Amino acid sequence: MAIIILAIESSCDETSASVIKDGKVLNNVVATQSVHQEYGGVVPELASRAHQQSIVPVVDKAMKEAGVLSSELSAIAFTRGPGLLGALLVGTSFAKSMALALDIPLIDVNHMQAHILAHFIDDPKPKFPFICLTVSGGHTQLVLVKDYTNLEVIGQTKDDAVGEAFDKAAKMLGLTYPGGPLIDKYAKLGDPTKFEFPNTSMPGLDYSFSGIKTAILYFLRDELKKDPDFIKNNINDLAASIQFALIKMLMNKLKRAAREHNIKEIAIAGGVSANSGLRKALENMKEEKRWNVYVPDFQYCTDNAGMIAIAAHFKYLAKEFVGLEVGPMARMPIGVKS
Ligand code: KG4
Ligand code: ZN
Repeated sequence: MAIIILAIESSCDETSASVIKDGKVLNNVVATQSVHQEYGGVVPELASRAHQQSIVPVVDKAMKEAGVLSSELSAIAFTRGPGLLGALLVGTSFAKSMALALDIPLIDVNHMQAHILAHFIDDPKPKFPFICLTVSGGHTQLVLVKDYTNLEVIGQTKDDAVGEAFDKAAKMLGLTYPGGPLIDKYAKLGDPTKFEFPNTSMPGLDYSFSGIKTAILYFLRDELKKDPDFIKNNINDLAASIQFALIKMLMNKLKRAAREHNIKEIAIAGGVSANSGLRKALENMKEEKRWNVYVPDFQYCTDNAGMIAIAAHFKYLAKEFVGLEVGPMARMPIGVKS
């Protein structure tokens, strides 16, 4: 009998549902919340309400598009964490109710693990062990992936996530939330060497992005005193220089991790892996370091239920189910067993 799983993602500001059949993701329906734009960041309470409004139509669309009846489902999967508690609660409660009503197993998925396992949706797939640089709005991690469920964090940010640094820098430039994609857009037209921002590094394989954020803030403040139109006149070069500095920091530690662990299978995952500068930097490593690089399809970079579905498929095969007493976890370390 076919293994058919409905997966739900609701950890931040995307409500998403996906149906997977025998390990093949059939679809990936995503409703992005626009309500946060005017606030310059995700407002947790508004996110929860928007999830409540979207979850039924999004799940309905995924099921109809896949041509699957609820009676055919083998299991229901959901993002348990990490994420915004209220937002996670919507997906968790929905999944639990559906599993209870259909009397089928329930599968909890770690969002960060799912970002990494998104590499197993399509070909080419990385070979174990590989290193994944996971870069999102809430996380920046270097993960040694030994198996689908055996993952070890070998480095991570001690303060802001790199996506947050992109978004905060964009906000300083007067761009709307989420600013990462806009920095990427303007950076394509600018000179990355025009302005220099500090490499605020940590010892070992850890990251820190709060220092560079402050440096950008002070730099802009000083320049605006001299020329009130400084940002307007230099937006492309500013975006390119900021992006260049952030990517350099990401790549330095990634190269170090690859060297220390003697691994040439390198992947990136998470929202910031959609960044064209990072993709290019990684692409260059194919030649320079003879790395085999893996970059996910755009739709599987930012938050989506397709990645929850593939992670759930592996858990289904391992019979890793949870009971109805399960609750969401705002903080959920990677590799934690239920
Ligand atoms: O993984 P994700 O969708 O959500 C979280 O789990 O956080 O990542 C969202 C982050 C945001 O900070 C957004 O600005 C950033 O990914 N992002 C980008 C790009 N696309 C999304 N950052 C830089 N360049 C992009 N093209
Ligand atoms: Zn994410």
